Amino acid sequence: MIPTLPRRPLGTTGLTVSVLGLGAGRIGGPETSEADVDRLLATAAELGVTVVDTARSYGASEERLGRALERRRGAFLLSTKLGYGVPGVPDWTGPAVEAGVDGALVLLRTDVIDLLHLHSCPRDVLERGEVVEALHRAVRAGKVRVAAYSGENDALDWAVRSGAFGAVQCSVSLVDQEVLSGAVPEATSRGLGVLAKRPLGNAPWRFETRPEAEDVAEAWERFRALSLDAAGEPWDAVAARFTAFAPGVTSILLGTASPAHLVAVASALAEGPLASAVLGSIRAAHERVGRGWPGRI
Ligand SMILES: NC(=O)c1ccc[n+]([C@@H]2O[C@H](COP(=O)([O-])OP(=O)(O)OC[C@H]3O[C@@H](n4cnc5c(N)ncnc54)[C@H](OP(=O)(O)O)[C@@H]3O)[C@@H](O)[C@H]2O)c1
Repeated sequence: MIPTLPRRPLGTTGLTVSVLGLGAGRIGGPETSEADVDRLLATAAELGVTVVDTARSYGASEERLGRALERRRGAFLLSTKLGYGVPGVPDWTGPAVEAGVDGALVLLRTDVIDLLHLHSCPRDVLERGEVVEALHRAVRAGKVRVAAYSGENDALDWAVRSGAFGAVQCSVSLVDQEVLSGAVPEATSRGLGVLAKRPLGNAPWRFETRPEAEDVAEAWERFRALSLDAAGEPWDAVAARFTAFAPGVTSILLGTASPAHLVAVASALAEGPLASAVLGSIRAAHERVGRGWPGRI
């Protein structure tokens, strides 16, 4: 029996989220059925997961979540990401955000989206103000609860300092540690919630040889360079505990289509933070070889 997942305040937004969230980037493709999504969400609810993250670019993910969550909408906070991909509307404009919000409300079958992220919006677009203002209008109209930003590096730094967002989403993992001495503590000090994306660093230990997908390959190369020792623990547990208990992280968004993987990570989190010797060696490895690695979008 796994204890129900602890919850944490999402910065000063007034929302509370489970330390483990479901990243729904893996349920948008043809290999996933509606029954698979139902099973995954039923497991998530049983474990006490209270936040689900999707995006306009995750195939059928929003639509499938909308259908599956219609009967249990109250059990989860819904997070999505947009700013692009509206037919006939230029990306990264006010109208793209407005139409994106309205489209997401329809696909997610809800009256309000709890967290709405500008999805890897470039810094110069943020600075122009138009898309941020459109997002704020959606909040004032009651269509969105919390305006949020998802991205990395200089755009993330700008977003954190802008005062325009209640939460940010960024990569935090064994292979994405640079942010732990930058945007994450800065966000915390300003009262922002922090959602950790790619919290297992795309689970690079699974691959004997360099994987094909470029983002996963980069994680694999970093993982090898770090040359870490799991001290006999399973890597998924080490990686999840590292990210979930990193200072400033509110919740980890585990990307999975597998109820068993969700259960495994929830069980690992019940063990609490990593032993200080293990944590120290992971941080030291980053200091040795990882300083300056950019955040992986
Ligand atoms: N804003 C952005 O631009 C952005 C970018 C990337 C990700 N994200 C968010 O972050 C979420 C997670 O990111 P991600 O999927 O790229 O990375 P991740 O969570 O670090 O890794 C996911 C990968 O690990 C596998 N996995 C999950 N649990 C496992 C376990 N216990 N043992 C072994 N393998 C396991 C998954 O496969 P299985 O399906 O087989 O479990 C999947 O291939 C996304 O769903 C999304 O919500 C956002």
